[in-house]
Amino acid sequence: MFYVKIIIQMILSWIVSFGKYNTEYEEEKMVKRYIFGKPLIDTEGVLNKPEPSQEPMSYFACENNDEGVLLKYTLEAGSPVYGLGQNVRGINKRGFRYVHFTGSNAQHVDTLASMYGSHNFLVVSGEKSFGVFIDSPGRVTFDVGFSDPDELTIISELEDFEVYIIEGTSLREIVHTFRQLIGQSYIPPKWAFGYQQCRWGYKNSDEIREVAARMKEAGIPLDSIGLDIDYMDGYKNFTADPENYGDLAELSSELLEQGIRLVPIIDAGTKIEPGNIVYDEGVEKDYFVKGEDGEDFIGAVWPGRCHFPDFLRPEVRDWFGHHYKYLTDMGIEGFWNDMNEPTLFFTNRGLQHTLDVVDEVRDTQLDIKRRRKLIDTVAAMRNNIADYKTFYHNVNGKTIVHDKVHNLYGYNMARAAGEALNDMLPNHRTLIFSRSSCIGLHRYAGIWQGDNQSWWQHILLNMKMMPSLNMCGFLFTGADVGGFHGNTSGDLLIRWLQLAAFTPLMRNHSANTCNRQEPYLFKQKDIMRDMIKIRYMLLPYLYSEFVKCALNSDMLFRPLAFDYPEDATAIEVEDQLMVGDALMIAPIYTQNASGRYVYLPEDMVAIRLSSPEEREYIPMKKGHHYISAELNQMVFFVRKDKLVVLGTPGQNTDQMNFNDFEVLCNVETESTYSLYNDDGFTKDYQNPQYYTDIHISRMEDGTLSLKQSNSEVKLTMTDITSQNKNKGECI
Ligand code: GLC
Repeated sequence: MFYVKIIIQMILSWIVSFGKYNTEYEEEKMVKRYIFGKPLIDTEGVLNKPEPSQEPMSYFACENNDEGVLLKYTLEAGSPVYGLGQNVRGINKRGFRYVHFTGSNAQHVDTLASMYGSHNFLVVSGEKSFGVFIDSPGRVTFDVGFSDPDELTIISELEDFEVYIIEGTSLREIVHTFRQLIGQSYIPPKWAFGYQQCRWGYKNSDEIREVAARMKEAGIPLDSIGLDIDYMDGYKNFTADPENYGDLAELSSELLEQGIRLVPIIDAGTKIEPGNIVYDEGVEKDYFVKGEDGEDFIGAVWPGRCHFPDFLRPEVRDWFGHHYKYLTDMGIEGFWNDMNEPTLFFTNRGLQHTLDVVDEVRDTQLDIKRRRKLIDTVAAMRNNIADYKTFYHNVNGKTIVHDKVHNLYGYNMARAAGEALNDMLPNHRTLIFSRSSCIGLHRYAGIWQGDNQSWWQHILLNMKMMPSLNMCGFLFTGADVGGFHGNTSGDLLIRWLQLAAFTPLMRNHSANTCNRQEPYLFKQKDIMRDMIKIRYMLLPYLYSEFVKCALNSDMLFRPLAFDYPEDATAIEVEDQLMVGDALMIAPIYTQNASGRYVYLPEDMVAIRLSSPEEREYIPMKKGHHYISAELNQMVFFVRKDKLVVLGTPGQNTDQMNFNDFEVLCNVETESTYSLYNDDGFTKDYQNPQYYTDIHISRMEDGTLSLKQSNSEVKLTMTDITSQNKNKGECI
């Protein structure tokens, strides 16, 4: 009987979702594509392109000026705008001018217009909500009620681009339709959801061994250790420093035996040095981008002067991507791609100009004007727009100046890894995450949020970026926990871990210029250990929700407005998020706080815990509450009639039992959950044996009854509904 019910439910939900999202007829009606001019290149952001619309463009009025093509829309008073991926400021993007031209600026402050990504999708909420995606490889500016509070102005610097307008009956449905257009998001292996320790400045392989040993000694779970540029020989990709990391292969296998993976960095620039195999081959095959003189373009990054692979060419991606074999042969299956905006510290042009200015001011009194000129000139050497106009790609035989396809560079670098690893290790997932990105990369890799700071407000920024990135397909993401620049304090790291316990990428990373921030170094290391263990406890739920969101084009992190669109208070909440089907989070991001105000858009059960075992369940009513949570306590909330599947933490994911779970049940009447639980590394996602349907109902005598479709999985129920029922509004 139970199985019949489950089958009927599955058919029903399939019919509902089919009707809601999936019919081609509906999709055509919901998506309109407009082509402006003759786009230079297919960005390959959108995979499933509908035929271009012949009708005049809906919503926007178009005009041209010196800045490019302007699309203007009059915003309804007070209606929020969501999306735009990686950016500063709010979940509601209204009130700022965002410039999408990928760049690396470590000052993630409120006035920063461009970050590392270019994610041109937003959703305007209102009487009639709609989404808009600007498919352009060049600079696009979104003035979201900044210059004129009532107007959204989108400016495409290129005159040739495409626009997609997406309609739907809800914000979530609009995002879903968009995500179907751009294709399935990348799914990393399960171990990538474990805690990752990283640092720029681990001098040699023994320091890496020490990190692994000290984490173990402190009982802190650890799945991987990031290798920054220190491991390379002279900052050359696909090399290891013979003196300090000469035993990289042994290190990798030693750690693998303990269930710990290495995650080395790969940078965009190729050091100009005969004997550097990537340099030699790249020159010989003519695979680097070209300067104005037709020679291989020169720009500087960590190794000094470099050439840059023309990742926009498939054969170059194939060639560069297969160089990862150097690392995969050592058993390494996790990588991060960096400096791929691409960052240019200087070019010969910029350096010469600076040297000229130095000469000009050298023998002067360096008054304020000249001093300023000197400082500005030095600063302007880095990522100078003029430089991006001086080199060229070869796309299908067409020469294209970089500046016009700038936003595609990082995407195609990560794609090189994704495509080649897929070829070298078919049906085997690898971890890849990139710093620069644009929509399209989400199919090949995740991203991290770049060089943040050890600032309290960066916990909040980390959180705010999660839903906007999810909207644009970036599900595997997170920020440098503890902050990259600046010295972190124990309490900051703890509060950050309490948020990062939910972010798919949970990596503690710091710069070589600041204090080390491995958890075992802090007086409060036991609290940190317990917070990381809570992450491992949550892993079955997070992993299941993540994979289902990737497969179903859904968002793992959602603003409250997406789930409670009729609730005017929920719509304004900027520091709480829905995570997956069952949870709401409200992290603490202020120093010295022992609690915070939280808004509950419906009755929920708060879980306050100081370790996986020490938990309190507090049923709470819809409304405003002050929730206390000392530094060693984190709080999250379970929605009504929802289930959360938990595991028992291990020293790493390899050592966890993914066949034995606890189900937290906040169930008044009944609840159903489909748990996704695969082997963690193959790509056979649709295999029915990976899904366990769990159905829990409340019996007349008040007890819970459990039915499950897969008896191989052991489930133990914890009833959190009945505990402390009708008690305190305020905890
Ligand atoms: C960049 C990266 C950072 C890395 C550093 C050195 O700043 O964003 O994560 O540690 O380069 O490679």
